[in-house]
This record gives sequence, structure tokens and C-alpha cells, in this order.
Amino acid sequence: MLCDGRMVCGCADPYGKRVLGDARAETVSAIWTGPRASTLRQDINAGGSKFCGDCPLKLPLAKSDAPPQRGTDVGTLPTRLYIECTAACNISCAQACCAPETGITRTRTAGMLDFDLFQRVVDEAGPSLGRIDFFNYGEAFLHKRAIEMCEYIKSRFPAVYLYTSTNGLAFSEDQARRLIRSGIDEVTFSIDGATPETYAQYRRRGDFDKAIRNLRAAADEKARTGRDVPFINWRYILFTHNDSDQEMALARATAQEIGVDRLCWELTDHPENMFSRRFVPGSDALLAIKHEVWDDNNLGNAIPGATPRAEIAVRGAAGPLPLVARRGRQLTVKTTVRNASTRAFPAQASYGRRLVRLGAQLCSADGSILNRDFERAWLPEALQPGAAAQVPMTITAPAEPGRYGLKFDLVSEGIDWFEACGSPTTTKTLLVV
Ligand SMILES: C[S@@+](CC[C@H](N)C(=O)[O-])C[C@H]1O[C@@H](n2cnc3c(N)ncnc32)[C@H](O)[C@@H]1O
Ligand code: SF4
Ligand code: SF4
Repeated sequence: MLCDGRMVCGCADPYGKRVLGDARAETVSAIWTGPRASTLRQDINAGGSKFCGDCPLKLPLAKSDAPPQRGTDVGTLPTRLYIECTAACNISCAQACCAPETGITRTRTAGMLDFDLFQRVVDEAGPSLGRIDFFNYGEAFLHKRAIEMCEYIKSRFPAVYLYTSTNGLAFSEDQARRLIRSGIDEVTFSIDGATPETYAQYRRRGDFDKAIRNLRAAADEKARTGRDVPFINWRYILFTHNDSDQEMALARATAQEIGVDRLCWELTDHPENMFSRRFVPGSDALLAIKHEVWDDNNLGNAIPGATPRAEIAVRGAAGPLPLVARRGRQLTVKTTVRNASTRAFPAQASYGRRLVRLGAQLCSADGSILNRDFERAWLPEALQPGAAAQVPMTITAPAEPGRYGLKFDLVSEGIDWFEACGSPTTTKTLLVV
């Protein structure tokens, strides 16, 4: 939803060119199920729609390829919503489509999202939503009631995963602390550089020291109040002017010192004269930081030692000896799990995500996965860095006798498997008799 109430299709429409409806005049449900959206779904299943125009999210379809089919029974309301408070920004990122000089605010018929409209849309869509992305183009926290909106969403619909991305420059330290207490699930600070000079080359008119002060206040408030939400990211876009080993090492050290949850690098291809020439696809430099890149996985972390890493040993099944179970019967597998990273693995989470559990994936004899969520076991308590715990897991053997594989990995629930960020897994043969 743009800040004037129009609903556009997808998050890649900065100038509001692909409008599905207008929440000022219609309900969300009417837009979601209305003729424009319904026809669009049918046209896409038929191979494409004129409506999409130059949308960058459009994927080319080879003449010989049949269009992939998506269900058109999408319920009465969406499950995910982006909310744009404003398209205005207090800085001007170099050549960005949302920089004020582009005239982006003139493509909206309102400067700031009306609070009553916001409430109406959230009240209606809230019950069906799994996630709200509380940002789009512009800097959301220029809206005077943005933090109040976050509080409203989390008080009305606590189960909705609420996420935002901010340049961190539109609020005071007190407001940053209030945002942390709002119940928001995840906050990303966009800070592309580790010094004021390099930072301001892309984030023009940006104040590095202020962004870092607010990031520090946010991390401090989370620690001070003993909260496990929000998860706080520092996202750092790599450019030629900030991608030296020295500067990246400074960012790693600063993030660690501040107590940020995750530092991640972002790769970009624009602006043309700025994007990193060092970290390009296929380069050794990129390979070395692969797991620390935002889009690679959801757990990797550029803070030294903070990328989750576990060692899983299956006791009583040394070497090549298989685990043996009777078909359909239970078998308790004794494992020892060690935390080989510098961050604790939480055994519980107040909001049901990011707790770490041991998972067993059922594989066929050739290693292909049959059931990724075959079994789970809880950690007995938070596993501190360097510590090990015994984690028994009771599985029910498949009904079909034969040779299988059991692949053990830790999983950060709702986020990712540890394997995705390079943590080793342990596989044992399971003989079902
Ligand atoms: C358009 S901004 C809006 C939110 C907020 N103003 C901010 O800067 O985080 C949304 C996301 O786009 C990212 N972004 C900005 N410039 C980019 C670029 N040249 N390449 C890739 N991502 C970029 C930001 O870092 C941010 O995560
Ligand atoms: S490609 Fe079409 S359907 Fe997909 S987001 Fe863009 S406008 Fe919407
Ligand atoms: S701070 Fe965010 S909204 Fe503002 S110009 Fe940069 S990327 Fe765009």
C-alpha cells in the first residue's frame, strides 16, 4: 500500500505505475479479489499480462516453456502486505529511484499515510496476514506516527511478523528505544560504510554518526530490557568506496562492539559507477564472504564467529555402523550437539521464531531428501558458545523396510537450516528391518 492508499502489485513499483486498487475507496478484500487482480492472475497463468509492463519482477518465459501455474484460489485477503508511510526521504542516495530529486513524492496524492486509513487496512487484513513489511520507498520514520503504527500492529495482531528497514536518521535515540519496545520483530539499519566519509558517498546528506548512535541505542535498549525481539540487522551495501578489507573489518568490529545481532553485506549492480568490482560473481573475494551476504541465506553473519556453526555427533553409532530400527517403530537416537560459534543457540523464544532445535531429515540411500522435517528435538537449554549438550531424539522408522539416511542439522525455526550458512551436518545410515 502506497502512502496515499493505492495498492500496487509487488514491491518494485516506486512510481505507482501498476495499481490494483485504492484502499481509500475499496476494502482490501475487494481489491484482492476484484477483477483487476483476478484477471492478472489468470493472464499470468496464460503466459503474461500487459498489466506488468516494465515491472522488474517479471521473469522472461522462453517460447518453448509452458507458463508455470499458480492457484487462483487465493482466499479473500492477502497474507503479506507492504505498508509505505511516506515516499519522502531525509537523505538522497546516489542515483536511487527513491531519492527526492527523482520527484517520487509527486507520484503520490498524499505525503503521509493517513492514520485512520492505516488502521482500517490493518484491522481488515490483520487476521490473514503472516507478515507486514513496514517500509517501501522513502524513509518510514519521517511519519510522525510511524512508531505508533508499529505499536498498533503488534498490539492488535501480535502474531504478524513485523519487519522494517530504515536509514536510522529520522528518529531520536529515545524514539529508537521506543521502536525496540514496540514489539516489532526485526529492524534493519541500512548503513553502507564504516566511516563518515565513505558512508556519505552513497548515502548523500546522511549523518553516519547519527545512524550509528541510533543503532547503538536500539541494541542497548534490547539488551537493557532483556528482550529477544527485535532482531537487529546492520545491512551494508558493498561499493567500490567501502569494500576494502580494512573498512569491512572496521564494520565487523563496530557491529560486534555495539551488540548488533547480524551484520550482512548486500551486493548491488547500481549505481553503475559505484557498485563493488571486487565482490562480483565467480570471484574468490565473493566466495570468501559468501555466507555473509544478505541474499545467500538467512543466518550468515559478518560479525566474527557469529555465523551459526554446530558439531553434531551420534553416540553409539560410531563409524560406518548403521542405526537399526524396526519398521514403524520408535528409535531413540542419542546425539551430542556442540556450539562451535560465538553466539548462544536459544532453546526457547518468546515469539516462537529463531529458537534452535535439532532436526533430522530423512534421506533415501542415495542421499536425496525424502522428508526435510522428519523429526525435531529440543535443546535442553540455551547452548552457550563452546558448550555441548546431549540431545536425544526419538524417531519413528518408516513403514517401508530398506536403507535410508538420517541427516542431522540444527535449525533456527522460521529462519533457516544451519547448513545454509556452511555449518557441517552429520548423516547416519538408517537400516529399517
Ligand atoms: C528503498 S530503501 C527504503 C527504506 C529505507 N529508507 C532504507 O534506506 O533502508 C529499501 C532497501 O533498499 C536498499 N537499497 C538502497 N539502495 C540500494 C542499492 N543501490 N542497491 C541495493 N539495495 C539498495 C536499502 O539499503 C534498503 O534496505
Ligand atoms: S511481474 Fe506483474 S504480477 Fe509480478 S509483481 Fe510485477 S506487476 Fe505484479
Ligand atoms: S535512504 Fe532509503 S528511501 Fe532514502 S534515498 Fe536512500 S534508499 Fe531511498
